[in-house]
Amino acid sequence: MDVRPFWLAGRPATGDAELTVTNSHDGRVVGVCSVPTPDQVEEAVAAAEAVRKEAAALPVHVRAEALAHVSRRLAERADEIARLITEENGKPVFWARGEVGRAVSTFRFAAEETRRSGGEAMRLDTEPAAAGRLAYVSRVPRGPILAITPFNFPLNLVAHKVAPAIAVGAPVVVKPAPATPLSALLLGEILAETDLPAGMFSVLPVPNERAAALVEDPRLPVVSFTGSGPVGYAIMESVPRKHVTLELGGNAAAVVLADADLDWAASRVALFSNYQAGQSCIAVQRVIVEESVRDDFLARLVPAVEALVTGDPADEKTQVGPLVSVEAAERVEQWVAEAVAGGARVLTGGTRDGATVAPTVLADAPAGARVSCEEVFGPVMVVQGVSGPDEAFAAVNDSKYGLQAGVFTRSLDLAFRANRELEVGGVVIGDVPSYRADQMPYGGVKESGVGREGVRSAMADYTYEKVMVLTGLSL
Ligand code: SIN
Repeated sequence: MDVRPFWLAGRPATGDAELTVTNSHDGRVVGVCSVPTPDQVEEAVAAAEAVRKEAAALPVHVRAEALAHVSRRLAERADEIARLITEENGKPVFWARGEVGRAVSTFRFAAEETRRSGGEAMRLDTEPAAAGRLAYVSRVPRGPILAITPFNFPLNLVAHKVAPAIAVGAPVVVKPAPATPLSALLLGEILAETDLPAGMFSVLPVPNERAAALVEDPRLPVVSFTGSGPVGYAIMESVPRKHVTLELGGNAAAVVLADADLDWAASRVALFSNYQAGQSCIAVQRVIVEESVRDDFLARLVPAVEALVTGDPADEKTQVGPLVSVEAAERVEQWVAEAVAGGARVLTGGTRDGATVAPTVLADAPAGARVSCEEVFGPVMVVQGVSGPDEAFAAVNDSKYGLQAGVFTRSLDLAFRANRELEVGGVVIGDVPSYRADQMPYGGVKESGVGREGVRSAMADYTYEKVMVLTGLSL
């Protein structure tokens, strides 16, 4: 099998070690990539630092054309890339295609946003003492960005860090998840086709143990991390003077109120608790349903979950594939067993075959069980009955996390109330918390993170506001 190069300051390079990537469905080796040496990592960071000023001064048309090129090429190679995501991640090809489509949009949005980022003029002659004065407010890149990306969206969550970086004119060094580096390396191949200056991007598949050196490197003043809470907070605490953004986990809730369309709610909850085998920070984990419709809802939900097609992720018909590894599936199995030992009832699922966990619905899970209060990151939901909206919203907030919540209701009044009361970064009315459009702000409160992604929000995050005051003008 050919060893894939990594990307060092925009060119392909090989190091002195290799990383083997396997498919979690059948254990097949699906790719081997080269791992950079410490000297090569140093070279990539030095190149990012060296190109910093040139990157910030890049004309908008150059940034926009590079981003548009990536968007086009991702679309042209969509089928091949979707298959690659499925191979390395185990994500069913149906969902992998969706991820590629989203990455096409993410780069397109960035191309559009960079053209809009012209700064703002602010009149200062609002006060007599400032007659003839005008402020020009622009945004300046904080500097090169270290992007540490997760395995669950190996293309689009890399896109969410790389595209805004290019849009603001900041070099970016990507450290992809060791389980799934191949999509990020393919993205590197497409980035290398653009006219971006050397040093503008590197993709370095180094093991996690070597990430600390990158995090601590002062030449990378921005760290954008997506992954687990313990790792995210350890990063933040290790570099308190850096600008760190964290997109962490969640145990997202879907609230089903008595006025909801139960057929719709059941079908959406069934699908989005189990899409990507539950490996999304906004997969439905907690289902909070009004008692008055609980039985009717469950009578729809359980068959909808049982109807999901589980199996080989390469099969076009598969909806639920394996988790990223057998170890991950074993952990989920153990958490389910712990809940059952504490009194939870398995309404369906609860079994494991290799890396695949059957879509699982639990009722009466103890509040302290890990399936209730931690992030499962597996195809498991816990259903809880509540007396009405008051108790439902309190139950959503009874979590250390706060990423997104979904509320199934037809009432505009309850929608606004949910938006006011729920302690989360995003509230989705009439659908699952798993809904994300790539242009909208995305991120959490509480232990779900700090900062926002979504192209425009990330561009704001990667930059600071700078003011130039002009004097003596005839305004
Ligand atoms: C995540 O898992 O946080 C990303 C979810 C998404 O982009 O849909």
